[in-house]
Formats: sequence, structure tokens, C-alpha cells
Amino acid sequence: MVYTRKNQRDLTRTERKKFVSAVLALKKKGIYDDFVRTHIEYYTADGDSGLRAAHMAPSFLPWHRKFLLDFENELRRIDPTVSVPYWDWTEDNTPTASIWGEDFMGGNGRRGDHQVMTGPFAHRGGHWDITVSVTEGRFLTRDFGRPAQPVNLPTREELEWAINDPLYDSAPWNSTSPDGFRNKLEGWSRGFGADRWRNHNRVHRWVSGLMLGGASVNDPVFWLHHSFIDAVWSHWQKLNPGAVYLPERASGGKVVGRHEPMPPWDTTPASMWDHSRVYRYA
Ligand code: CU
Ligand code: CU
Repeated sequence: MVYTRKNQRDLTRTERKKFVSAVLALKKKGIYDDFVRTHIEYYTADGDSGLRAAHMAPSFLPWHRKFLLDFENELRRIDPTVSVPYWDWTEDNTPTASIWGEDFMGGNGRRGDHQVMTGPFAHRGGHWDITVSVTEGRFLTRDFGRPAQPVNLPTREELEWAINDPLYDSAPWNSTSPDGFRNKLEGWSRGFGADRWRNHNRVHRWVSGLMLGGASVNDPVFWLHHSFIDAVWSHWQKLNPGAVYLPERASGGKVVGRHEPMPPWDTTPASMWDHSRVYRYA
């Protein structure tokens, strides 16, 4: 049966609680940290040798769609009524938005060490120990807006700039691709200062702390952010019914072609194109 992913601002108190409980249950079982590990492993950049499947590549979108679905399936094994809500950061774009409530994602990190002190994922609550990371800290960190190098959340206009590109992706199929919805949404650019990061990337920068880099899955808001990225892709697909994943064939083994598997799975970008029989967005 097709289930629904909702805007997080529309969740009831009970739905917020159920989502948080399911996430904490996966953490306790050690399953959550497997997802952190996988993401760290696939956090490779343009210059790195070998295949780029998850970032700076055409398969950024289908790779994260599959990653999110796997996570959601685990959540639904704990509680079949749960799905991954999405965070529309063009609307809920302040540190006081309800997403950062005590009963949901918790708030900003404190001054100094940026440790998150509120909500279910604060280390002092005893449920959220960071064990898989690239740095030493054992606690969740955030630094909203990075006051040291200020950055704002993307606006609706900045998001529209990506949505209005009818082409899926373009050569050279990496972070320098000048055209295409994928790179404009993923958000690599040659700008300066805060302009270097757009849309998806800018949101990781704005939350900051652990949301920067490969270990970003340690912050549960990762899933709400990527649920929205997936919803935007879904919206773009409806606007462009004839669009296809590009490139059809990938030469040189650097990126994934339309019918080639995206590691660590056998899943192809083509098979992730249509999600309508699995879930929908409200
Ligand atoms: Cu990622
Ligand atoms: Cu991301």
C-alpha cells in the first residue's frame, strides 16, 4: 500500500513522538549507525579515484532516494505508521521554527562547543551517543547559520532556479556540471563566500556541526532534509514527464549510467525513477 510522507510542520504531537521513538529504537539496536557508516563510506568527491555514486554525481538523487527508503523501511519495522517527514526549509527557515522543538529535533548547539542541549537527541538525555564519526566528539553539534561565516537557508527563488531547469544533468557529470537540475539542486557552484553552496548543500552548511560532511547522518534532521530534496525531485519529475536520468551510459567508470547498479546496492537509477507505487508526498 502506498504511504504518505508529510510536511513535518503538519505532524500531530503524536506523529512527532512516534517518529522520534522509532529513530531512537533504531539507534539502540545499532541499525542507525550502520546508515552513518554507509554514508561516510560513500562520501567521495570529484577528485577521488573510482566510482562516485552518492555525491557530486548524477546518481546523487536516486542514491539518496534508495538510502532514505532503506532507512524508512527500518523505521516501519519498528512502527508501521511512521514515514520520513520532510522539512521545507524555504518556509521553516528560522531557529525558532517548530522543527527545532524540544519534542522533535531539538534546537541549536550552545556557544563554544556547539553541543545540542535540548530535545531527544541531546547527549545528556542518554539516548544519542555519537559513535561513528570522522571527529572525536560524542555529542550532536549544530551551529545554525554559522555566525563566524554567515549563511542563510535557500529561498524559494533559489530553489526555483534548480526546478526550472528541464534537463536532468549534464557533462562532465560532477560538481562542475553547468546545466541540469541535479547539480543545481545538489548545490555546487563556482561562486564566492556563501554562494559557493546552493540549495541542498547550503542547508547542510546552515545547520552546520555534524551536518557538515560525511557523518551528517548523525543528525536526524538529515532525513527530513533529504526527504524534502526527494520531494523536490518528485515535483520536478511531474513538471517534466518526458525527462530521463542522464547519462544513459557512463564511460570511464566514474559515474553511474541509467541502468547500472549504484553501490552498495544492485539498484539502478532507472529503477528508482518512479516512487509512486511506494510512497507519495502530501
Ligand atoms: Cu549524502
Ligand atoms: Cu545531503
